Amino acid sequence: MSCVVVIGAQWGDEGKGKIIDIYTEFAEMVVRYAGGSNAGHTLVVGDEKIVVRLLPSGILREGTRCLLGQGMVVDPAVLLGEVDELIGRGRKHVASQVKVSTRAHLIMPYHLLVDALRESRASEGKAIGTTKKGIGPAYEDKIRRNGVRLGELRNFAKLTERVENALEAWAPVIRDLGGEVPSVESVVEPLRALADRVIPMLADTSELLDDAVKKGAKILLEGAQGTLLDVDHGTYPFVTSSSPIAGGATTGAGIGPNRISTVVGITKAYTTRVGGGPFPTEQENDEGRHLQKVGAEFGSVTGRARRAGWLDLPALRYAVRVNGIDGIALTKLDVLTGIARPKICVAYETPEGRTDSFPIDELDDPRVQPIYEELEGWTESISDVRQMSDLPAAALAYVKFIEDKAGVPAYLVSVGPRRDETIVIRNPLG
Ligand code: GDP
Ligand code: IMO
Ligand code: MG
Repeated sequence: MSCVVVIGAQWGDEGKGKIIDIYTEFAEMVVRYAGGSNAGHTLVVGDEKIVVRLLPSGILREGTRCLLGQGMVVDPAVLLGEVDELIGRGRKHVASQVKVSTRAHLIMPYHLLVDALRESRASEGKAIGTTKKGIGPAYEDKIRRNGVRLGELRNFAKLTERVENALEAWAPVIRDLGGEVPSVESVVEPLRALADRVIPMLADTSELLDDAVKKGAKILLEGAQGTLLDVDHGTYPFVTSSSPIAGGATTGAGIGPNRISTVVGITKAYTTRVGGGPFPTEQENDEGRHLQKVGAEFGSVTGRARRAGWLDLPALRYAVRVNGIDGIALTKLDVLTGIARPKICVAYETPEGRTDSFPIDELDDPRVQPIYEELEGWTESISDVRQMSDLPAAALAYVKFIEDKAGVPAYLVSVGPRRDETIVIRNPLG
Protein backbone atom coordinates (compact mmCIF):
# COMPACT_ATOMS: atom_id res chain seq x y z
CA MET A 1 0.00 0.00 0.00
CA SER A 2 1.42 3.38 -1.02
CA CYS A 3 -0.72 6.27 0.06
CA VAL A 4 1.52 9.21 0.82
CA VAL A 5 0.43 12.47 2.43
CA VAL A 6 2.60 15.45 1.51
CA ILE A 7 2.13 18.49 3.76
CA GLY A 8 3.70 21.89 4.39
CA ALA A 9 5.62 21.93 7.67
CA GLN A 10 5.75 25.73 8.00
CA TRP A 11 3.44 28.66 7.09
CA GLY A 12 2.81 27.54 3.49
CA ASP A 13 4.68 28.06 0.21
CA GLU A 14 7.29 25.43 1.13
CA GLY A 15 7.37 24.12 -2.45
CA LYS A 16 4.53 21.58 -2.25
CA GLY A 17 3.69 22.08 -5.93
CA LYS A 18 7.18 21.18 -7.09
CA ILE A 19 7.47 18.12 -4.84
CA ILE A 20 4.01 16.75 -5.71
CA ASP A 21 4.77 17.26 -9.41
CA ILE A 22 7.98 15.23 -9.01
CA TYR A 23 6.35 12.42 -7.02
CA THR A 24 3.45 12.24 -9.49
CA GLU A 25 5.78 10.49 -11.93
CA PHE A 26 5.23 7.47 -9.65
CA ALA A 27 1.55 8.06 -8.72
CA GLU A 28 -1.74 7.11 -10.32
CA MET A 29 -3.86 9.54 -8.31
CA VAL A 30 -3.34 12.91 -6.59
CA VAL A 31 -5.94 14.26 -4.15
CA ARG A 32 -6.27 17.75 -2.69
CA TYR A 33 -8.11 17.58 0.64
CA ALA A 34 -8.26 21.06 2.22
CA GLY A 35 -8.37 24.76 1.47
CA GLY A 36 -9.30 26.34 -1.81
CA SER A 37 -7.91 28.96 -4.14
CA ASN A 38 -5.95 30.54 -1.27
CA ALA A 39 -3.32 27.98 -2.31
CA GLY A 40 -0.84 28.74 -5.07
CA HIS A 41 1.35 25.79 -6.01
CA THR A 42 4.07 26.50 -8.55
CA LEU A 43 5.13 23.94 -11.15
CA VAL A 44 8.17 24.66 -13.29
CA VAL A 45 8.77 22.36 -16.23
CA GLY A 46 11.48 23.43 -18.66
CA ASP A 47 10.78 27.08 -19.44
CA GLU A 48 7.13 26.81 -18.51
CA LYS A 49 5.79 27.98 -15.14
CA ILE A 50 2.27 27.13 -14.02
CA VAL A 51 0.60 28.08 -10.75
CA VAL A 52 -2.30 25.85 -9.72
CA ARG A 53 -4.71 26.97 -7.02
CA LEU A 54 -7.45 24.35 -6.91
CA LEU A 55 -6.21 21.66 -9.25
CA PRO A 56 -3.89 19.08 -7.71
CA SER A 57 -0.23 19.56 -8.65
CA GLY A 58 -0.24 16.19 -10.40
CA ILE A 59 -2.29 17.70 -13.22
CA LEU A 60 0.60 18.05 -15.67
CA ARG A 61 1.11 14.29 -16.00
CA GLU A 62 -1.44 12.91 -18.40
CA GLY A 63 -3.05 9.77 -17.05
CA THR A 64 -2.82 10.76 -13.39
CA ARG A 65 -6.28 11.13 -11.94
CA CYS A 66 -6.72 14.32 -9.93
CA LEU A 67 -9.39 14.61 -7.24
CA LEU A 68 -10.66 17.57 -5.22
CA GLY A 69 -11.96 16.15 -1.96
CA GLN A 70 -14.92 17.21 0.16
CA GLY A 71 -12.70 19.04 2.64
CA MET A 72 -12.16 21.73 0.03
CA VAL A 73 -14.01 24.97 -0.65
CA VAL A 74 -14.28 25.53 -4.39
CA ASP A 75 -14.83 28.72 -6.36
CA PRO A 76 -16.28 27.29 -9.60
CA ALA A 77 -15.13 30.24 -11.73
CA VAL A 78 -11.55 29.74 -10.53
CA LEU A 79 -11.79 25.99 -11.16
CA LEU A 80 -12.98 26.42 -14.75
CA GLY A 81 -10.47 29.23 -15.32
CA GLU A 82 -7.65 26.89 -14.33
CA VAL A 83 -8.94 24.08 -16.52
CA ASP A 84 -9.27 26.47 -19.49
CA GLU A 85 -5.80 27.88 -18.96
CA LEU A 86 -4.23 24.44 -19.06
CA ILE A 87 -6.28 23.42 -22.10
CA GLY A 88 -5.14 26.68 -23.73
CA ARG A 89 -1.57 25.60 -23.06
CA GLY A 90 -2.17 22.43 -25.03
CA ARG A 91 -3.09 20.09 -22.17
CA LYS A 92 -6.40 18.83 -23.53
CA HIS A 93 -6.41 15.86 -21.13
CA VAL A 94 -7.15 18.09 -18.12
CA ALA A 95 -10.97 18.20 -18.30
CA SER A 96 -11.33 14.41 -18.17
CA GLN A 97 -8.56 14.03 -15.59
CA VAL A 98 -10.29 15.98 -12.78
CA LYS A 99 -13.10 14.90 -10.46
CA VAL A 100 -14.55 17.13 -7.75
CA SER A 101 -16.45 15.95 -4.69
CA THR A 102 -20.20 16.57 -4.69
CA ARG A 103 -19.75 17.38 -1.00
CA ALA A 104 -17.09 20.08 -1.34
CA HIS A 105 -18.48 23.52 -0.56
CA LEU A 106 -18.99 26.34 -3.01
CA ILE A 107 -17.30 29.68 -2.50
CA MET A 108 -19.95 32.28 -3.22
CA PRO A 109 -19.66 35.99 -4.08
CA TYR A 110 -20.84 36.90 -0.56
CA HIS A 111 -17.90 34.93 0.90
CA LEU A 112 -15.47 36.95 -1.21
CA LEU A 113 -17.26 40.17 -0.22
CA VAL A 114 -17.18 39.47 3.54
CA ASP A 115 -13.52 38.38 3.42
CA ALA A 116 -12.50 41.58 1.63
CA LEU A 117 -14.64 43.87 3.82
CA ARG A 118 -13.35 42.34 7.05
CA GLU A 119 -9.73 42.65 5.98
CA SER A 120 -10.11 46.26 4.86
CA ARG A 121 -11.98 47.24 8.05
CA ALA A 122 -9.65 45.46 10.51
CA SER A 123 -7.74 47.74 12.85
CA GLU A 124 -3.92 47.93 12.95
CA GLY A 125 -2.36 44.57 13.90
CA LYS A 126 -5.71 42.75 13.73
CA ALA A 127 -5.89 42.01 9.98
CA ILE A 128 -5.03 38.38 9.30
CA GLY A 129 -3.77 39.29 5.86
CA THR A 130 -5.98 36.70 4.19
CA THR A 131 -5.76 35.95 0.49
CA LYS A 132 -9.30 37.44 0.16
CA LYS A 133 -10.50 34.35 -1.68
CA GLY A 134 -13.51 33.91 0.60
CA ILE A 135 -12.01 30.96 2.47
CA GLY A 136 -12.90 31.90 6.06
CA PRO A 137 -16.56 32.85 5.36
CA ALA A 138 -17.08 29.71 3.22
CA TYR A 139 -15.85 27.44 6.03
CA GLU A 140 -17.96 29.43 8.50
CA ASP A 141 -21.03 28.62 6.41
CA LYS A 142 -20.03 24.95 6.27
CA ILE A 143 -19.63 24.70 10.05
CA ARG A 144 -22.82 26.59 10.85
CA ARG A 145 -24.62 24.32 8.34
CA ASN A 146 -25.49 27.10 5.94
CA GLY A 147 -23.13 26.16 3.13
CA VAL A 148 -23.94 25.21 -0.44
CA ARG A 149 -22.30 22.06 -1.77
CA LEU A 150 -21.19 21.42 -5.30
CA GLY A 151 -23.69 18.58 -5.70
CA GLU A 152 -26.46 21.16 -5.28
CA LEU A 153 -25.52 22.60 -8.67
CA ARG A 154 -27.65 19.71 -9.97
CA ASN A 155 -30.77 21.07 -8.27
CA PHE A 156 -31.28 24.82 -8.65
CA ALA A 157 -34.48 24.92 -6.59
CA LYS A 158 -32.60 23.52 -3.60
CA LEU A 159 -29.55 25.65 -4.32
CA THR A 160 -31.66 28.84 -4.42
CA GLU A 161 -33.15 27.97 -1.05
CA ARG A 162 -29.68 27.38 0.40
CA VAL A 163 -28.47 30.74 -0.94
CA GLU A 164 -31.54 32.47 0.56
CA ASN A 165 -30.72 30.98 3.97
CA ALA A 166 -27.08 31.98 3.74
CA LEU A 167 -27.80 35.52 2.59
CA GLU A 168 -30.31 36.01 5.39
CA ALA A 169 -27.57 35.13 7.87
CA TRP A 170 -24.88 37.25 6.19
CA ALA A 171 -27.03 40.35 5.52
CA PRO A 172 -26.55 42.02 8.93
CA VAL A 173 -22.82 41.25 8.84
CA ILE A 174 -22.41 42.74 5.37
CA ARG A 175 -24.41 45.85 6.30
CA ASP A 176 -22.44 46.24 9.51
CA LEU A 177 -19.21 46.19 7.50
CA GLY A 178 -20.60 48.91 5.20
CA GLY A 179 -21.22 46.59 2.24
CA GLU A 180 -24.19 46.07 -0.03
CA VAL A 181 -26.09 42.79 0.31
CA PRO A 182 -26.27 41.01 -3.08
CA SER A 183 -29.64 39.76 -4.32
CA VAL A 184 -30.34 36.02 -4.46
CA GLU A 185 -30.70 36.22 -8.28
CA SER A 186 -27.35 37.97 -8.70
CA VAL A 187 -25.74 35.03 -6.88
CA VAL A 188 -27.72 32.17 -8.42
CA GLU A 189 -28.05 33.19 -12.09
CA PRO A 190 -24.31 33.29 -12.97
CA LEU A 191 -24.00 29.79 -11.49
CA ARG A 192 -26.23 28.29 -14.20
CA ALA A 193 -23.67 28.57 -16.97
CA LEU A 194 -20.86 27.40 -14.66
CA ALA A 195 -22.98 24.44 -13.49
CA ASP A 196 -23.24 23.02 -17.02
CA ARG A 197 -19.47 22.63 -17.09
CA VAL A 198 -18.90 21.66 -13.45
CA ILE A 199 -21.58 18.92 -13.20
CA PRO A 200 -19.72 16.47 -15.49
CA MET A 201 -16.73 16.81 -13.17
CA LEU A 202 -18.66 15.87 -10.00
CA ALA A 203 -18.20 12.51 -8.31
CA ASP A 204 -18.08 10.75 -4.97
CA THR A 205 -14.33 11.27 -4.75
CA SER A 206 -14.03 9.32 -1.50
CA GLU A 207 -15.35 6.26 -3.33
CA LEU A 208 -12.96 6.77 -6.26
CA LEU A 209 -10.11 7.05 -3.78
CA ASP A 210 -11.20 3.91 -1.94
CA ASP A 211 -11.38 1.98 -5.24
CA ALA A 212 -7.86 3.09 -6.04
CA VAL A 213 -6.63 2.07 -2.57
CA LYS A 214 -8.23 -1.37 -2.97
CA LYS A 215 -6.48 -1.83 -6.32
CA GLY A 216 -3.15 -1.02 -4.68
CA ALA A 217 -2.69 2.17 -6.70
CA LYS A 218 0.00 4.64 -5.70
CA ILE A 219 -1.70 7.71 -4.31
CA LEU A 220 -0.60 11.17 -3.22
CA LEU A 221 -2.65 13.29 -0.83
CA GLU A 222 -1.63 16.88 -1.43
CA GLY A 223 -1.71 19.32 1.47
CA ALA A 224 -2.22 23.02 0.91
CA GLN A 225 -1.16 25.84 3.25
CA GLY A 226 0.99 24.55 6.11
CA THR A 227 1.03 23.16 9.65
CA LEU A 228 1.38 26.56 11.32
CA LEU A 229 -1.67 27.83 9.40
CA ASP A 230 -3.84 24.92 10.63
CA VAL A 231 -6.99 26.09 12.43
CA ASP A 232 -6.26 23.76 15.37
CA HIS A 233 -2.48 23.49 15.37
CA GLY A 234 -1.36 26.82 13.90
CA THR A 235 -0.62 30.27 15.29
CA TYR A 236 -4.28 31.00 16.01
CA PRO A 237 -5.99 33.35 15.15
CA PHE A 238 -3.47 34.06 12.37
CA VAL A 239 -4.34 30.86 10.54
CA THR A 240 -6.50 29.66 7.69
CA SER A 241 -9.90 28.07 8.35
CA SER A 242 -9.15 24.45 7.42
CA SER A 243 -7.01 21.51 8.57
CA PRO A 244 -3.92 21.39 6.35
CA ILE A 245 -2.13 18.88 8.62
CA ALA A 246 -1.82 15.21 7.67
CA GLY A 247 -4.83 14.32 9.85
CA GLY A 248 -6.93 16.65 7.69
CA ALA A 249 -6.32 14.29 4.78
CA THR A 250 -8.51 11.61 6.35
CA THR A 251 -11.58 13.81 6.78
CA GLY A 252 -10.88 16.01 3.76
CA ALA A 253 -10.32 13.18 1.29
CA GLY A 254 -12.56 10.60 2.99
CA ILE A 255 -10.03 7.89 3.74
CA GLY A 256 -9.30 5.93 6.91
CA PRO A 257 -6.08 6.87 8.77
CA ASN A 258 -4.91 3.24 8.49
CA ARG A 259 -4.77 3.60 4.70
CA ILE A 260 -1.99 6.19 4.90
CA SER A 261 1.46 4.67 4.58
CA THR A 262 3.83 7.66 4.79
CA VAL A 263 3.79 11.34 5.68
CA VAL A 264 6.29 13.62 3.98
CA GLY A 265 6.73 17.12 5.44
CA ILE A 266 8.09 19.87 3.25
CA THR A 267 10.22 22.60 4.77
CA LYS A 268 12.27 25.35 3.24
CA ALA A 269 15.88 25.54 4.38
CA TYR A 270 14.78 28.83 5.97
CA THR A 271 11.30 30.20 6.81
CA THR A 272 8.77 32.50 5.16
CA ARG A 273 5.34 33.73 6.09
CA VAL A 274 2.87 35.79 4.09
CA GLY A 275 0.24 37.74 6.02
CA GLY A 276 0.06 38.79 9.66
CA GLY A 277 0.87 36.90 12.86
CA PRO A 278 3.89 35.85 14.90
CA PHE A 279 7.12 34.86 13.16
CA PRO A 280 9.88 34.64 15.79
CA THR A 281 12.81 33.98 13.44
CA GLU A 282 11.90 36.76 10.97
CA GLN A 283 14.93 38.76 9.80
CA GLU A 284 14.20 42.35 8.79
CA ASN A 285 17.82 42.91 7.78
CA ASP A 286 20.24 42.24 4.91
CA GLU A 287 20.10 38.48 5.46
CA GLY A 288 16.28 38.50 5.41
CA ARG A 289 16.38 40.60 2.25
CA HIS A 290 18.82 38.10 0.68
CA LEU A 291 16.33 35.28 1.37
CA GLN A 292 13.44 37.31 -0.08
CA LYS A 293 15.36 38.38 -3.18
CA VAL A 294 17.28 35.22 -4.04
CA GLY A 295 14.31 33.03 -3.06
CA ALA A 296 11.94 35.23 -5.14
CA GLU A 297 9.64 35.31 -2.14
CA PHE A 298 6.51 36.87 -3.56
CA GLY A 299 3.09 35.25 -3.08
CA SER A 300 2.04 33.13 -6.05
CA VAL A 301 -1.64 34.05 -5.48
CA THR A 302 -1.54 37.62 -4.19
CA GLY A 303 1.91 38.80 -5.32
CA ARG A 304 2.56 40.04 -1.77
CA ALA A 305 6.15 40.05 -0.50
CA ARG A 306 6.70 37.13 1.85
CA ARG A 307 8.35 37.83 5.20
CA ALA A 308 11.58 35.82 5.54
CA GLY A 309 13.84 34.54 8.30
CA TRP A 310 15.87 31.63 9.63
CA LEU A 311 14.78 28.01 9.93
CA ASP A 312 12.97 27.27 13.19
CA LEU A 313 13.82 23.76 14.42
CA PRO A 314 11.45 23.74 17.42
CA ALA A 315 8.66 24.62 14.95
CA LEU A 316 9.83 21.85 12.61
CA ARG A 317 9.86 19.31 15.47
CA TYR A 318 6.34 20.50 16.32
CA ALA A 319 5.31 19.82 12.71
CA VAL A 320 6.96 16.37 12.86
CA ARG A 321 4.87 15.63 15.96
CA VAL A 322 1.43 16.88 14.89
CA ASN A 323 1.67 15.40 11.39
CA GLY A 324 3.63 12.23 12.15
CA ILE A 325 6.22 13.19 9.54
CA ASP A 326 8.34 10.22 8.43
CA GLY A 327 10.74 12.16 6.22
CA ILE A 328 11.28 15.70 5.06
CA ALA A 329 11.65 17.28 1.66
CA LEU A 330 14.05 20.18 2.20
CA THR A 331 13.52 22.89 -0.42
CA LYS A 332 15.35 26.04 -1.52
CA LEU A 333 18.73 25.03 -0.11
CA ASP A 334 20.26 26.90 -3.07
CA VAL A 335 18.87 30.18 -1.71
CA LEU A 336 21.33 30.02 1.22
CA THR A 337 24.34 30.06 -1.12
CA GLY A 338 26.38 33.18 -0.41
CA ILE A 339 25.21 33.71 3.18
CA ALA A 340 28.43 33.72 5.19
CA ARG A 341 27.06 32.35 8.48
CA PRO A 342 23.48 31.00 8.19
CA LYS A 343 21.68 30.66 11.51
CA ILE A 344 19.15 28.09 12.69
CA CYS A 345 16.87 28.49 15.70
CA VAL A 346 17.52 25.46 17.93
CA ALA A 347 15.56 26.37 21.07
CA TYR A 348 13.63 29.18 22.78
CA GLU A 349 14.33 31.37 25.78
CA THR A 350 11.15 31.72 27.87
CA PRO A 351 10.35 33.21 31.30
CA GLU A 352 10.50 29.61 32.60
CA GLY A 353 13.95 29.02 31.06
CA ARG A 354 15.26 27.44 27.87
CA THR A 355 12.99 25.04 25.99
CA ASP A 356 13.49 22.82 22.96
CA SER A 357 9.72 22.90 22.32
CA PHE A 358 7.95 25.39 20.08
CA PRO A 359 6.21 27.77 22.54
CA ILE A 360 3.21 28.19 20.25
CA ASP A 361 0.90 29.55 22.97
CA GLU A 362 3.38 32.19 24.14
CA LEU A 363 4.68 33.66 20.90
CA ASP A 364 3.26 37.10 21.63
CA ASP A 365 5.27 37.35 24.88
CA PRO A 366 8.32 39.54 24.08
CA ARG A 367 10.36 37.51 26.60
CA VAL A 368 10.01 34.46 24.38
CA GLN A 369 12.98 34.65 22.01
CA PRO A 370 14.66 32.23 19.61
CA ILE A 371 18.12 30.88 20.45
CA TYR A 372 20.30 30.44 17.36
CA GLU A 373 23.26 28.35 16.33
CA GLU A 374 25.48 29.66 13.55
CA LEU A 375 26.55 27.26 10.85
CA GLU A 376 29.19 27.42 8.12
CA GLY A 377 28.07 29.02 4.88
CA TRP A 378 29.09 28.11 1.32
CA THR A 379 29.58 30.17 -1.82
CA GLU A 380 29.42 27.59 -4.63
CA SER A 381 26.25 27.33 -6.73
CA ILE A 382 24.53 24.02 -5.88
CA SER A 383 21.72 24.01 -8.45
CA ASP A 384 23.55 21.47 -10.64
CA VAL A 385 24.11 19.03 -7.78
CA ARG A 386 22.12 15.76 -8.07
CA GLN A 387 23.74 13.68 -5.32
CA MET A 388 24.22 14.48 -1.66
CA SER A 389 27.91 13.59 -1.84
CA ASP A 390 28.45 16.34 -4.45
CA LEU A 391 27.19 19.09 -2.15
CA PRO A 392 29.82 21.44 -0.66
CA ALA A 393 30.79 20.18 2.81
CA ALA A 394 29.06 23.10 4.56
CA ALA A 395 25.78 22.55 2.67
CA LEU A 396 25.89 18.83 3.49
CA ALA A 397 26.55 19.68 7.15
CA TYR A 398 23.56 22.07 7.09
CA VAL A 399 21.25 19.26 5.90
CA LYS A 400 22.69 16.75 8.39
CA PHE A 401 22.22 19.28 11.22
CA ILE A 402 18.51 19.57 10.36
CA GLU A 403 18.02 15.80 10.06
CA ASP A 404 19.76 15.25 13.36
CA LYS A 405 17.89 17.94 15.31
CA ALA A 406 14.49 17.30 13.72
CA GLY A 407 14.86 13.55 14.29
CA VAL A 408 13.72 12.62 10.78
CA PRO A 409 15.66 11.85 7.59
CA ALA A 410 15.63 13.99 4.45
CA TYR A 411 13.89 12.12 1.62
CA LEU A 412 14.66 14.84 -0.89
CA VAL A 413 16.67 18.06 -1.17
CA SER A 414 15.60 20.69 -3.69
CA VAL A 415 18.25 22.97 -5.18
CA GLY A 416 16.21 25.03 -7.65
CA PRO A 417 12.63 25.56 -8.85
CA ARG A 418 12.81 23.19 -11.84
CA ARG A 419 11.79 19.53 -11.79
CA ASP A 420 15.32 18.36 -12.46
CA GLU A 421 16.94 20.60 -9.83
CA THR A 422 16.41 17.94 -7.21
CA ILE A 423 18.36 15.41 -5.15
CA VAL A 424 16.14 12.40 -4.49
CA ILE A 425 17.40 10.39 -1.53
CA ARG A 426 14.42 8.12 -0.89
CA ASN A 427 11.23 7.82 -2.96
CA PRO A 428 8.23 7.38 -0.62
CA LEU A 429 6.22 5.83 -3.49
CA GLY A 430 9.07 3.58 -4.58
P1 GDP B 1 3.72 25.84 -2.49
O1 GDP B 1 2.55 26.72 -2.23
O2 GDP B 1 4.17 25.08 -1.29
O3 GDP B 1 3.51 24.94 -3.68
O4 GDP B 1 4.92 26.81 -2.88
P2 GDP B 1 4.85 28.06 -3.89
O5 GDP B 1 4.78 27.56 -5.27
O6 GDP B 1 3.81 29.03 -3.44
O7 GDP B 1 6.23 28.75 -3.58
C1 GDP B 1 7.45 28.09 -3.73
C2 GDP B 1 8.31 28.89 -4.71
O8 GDP B 1 9.64 28.43 -4.62
C3 GDP B 1 7.89 28.72 -6.15
O9 GDP B 1 8.17 29.91 -6.84
C4 GDP B 1 8.79 27.59 -6.64
O10 GDP B 1 9.01 27.64 -8.05
C5 GDP B 1 10.05 27.89 -5.90
N1 GDP B 1 10.90 26.74 -5.54
C6 GDP B 1 10.51 25.48 -5.16
N2 GDP B 1 11.60 24.74 -4.81
C7 GDP B 1 12.67 25.55 -4.98
C8 GDP B 1 14.07 25.37 -4.76
O11 GDP B 1 14.55 24.34 -4.31
N3 GDP B 1 14.88 26.45 -5.03
C9 GDP B 1 14.39 27.63 -5.50
N4 GDP B 1 15.25 28.61 -5.73
N5 GDP B 1 13.07 27.82 -5.72
C10 GDP B 1 12.24 26.81 -5.45
P1 IMO C 1 -0.07 27.43 -0.21
O1 IMO C 1 -0.91 26.19 -0.40
C1 IMO C 1 0.93 30.84 2.31
C2 IMO C 1 -2.31 32.52 4.72
C3 IMO C 1 -2.72 33.95 4.35
C4 IMO C 1 -3.18 34.45 5.71
C5 IMO C 1 -3.84 33.21 6.33
C6 IMO C 1 -5.36 33.17 6.16
O2 IMO C 1 0.28 28.12 -1.47
O3 IMO C 1 1.09 27.15 0.68
P2 IMO C 1 -6.96 32.67 4.07
O4 IMO C 1 -7.07 33.35 2.75
O5 IMO C 1 -6.62 31.22 4.00
O6 IMO C 1 -8.12 32.93 4.97
O7 IMO C 1 -5.70 33.41 4.79
O8 IMO C 1 -3.27 32.09 5.68
N1 IMO C 1 -2.33 31.56 3.60
C7 IMO C 1 -1.24 31.13 2.96
N2 IMO C 1 0.06 31.49 3.11
N3 IMO C 1 0.60 29.88 1.44
C8 IMO C 1 -0.69 29.48 1.31
O9 IMO C 1 -1.07 28.44 0.54
C9 IMO C 1 -1.68 30.15 2.06
N4 IMO C 1 -3.02 30.04 2.16
C10 IMO C 1 -3.40 30.90 3.11
O10 IMO C 1 -1.65 34.68 3.84
O11 IMO C 1 -2.05 34.76 6.50
MG1 MG D 1 2.00 28.71 -2.42
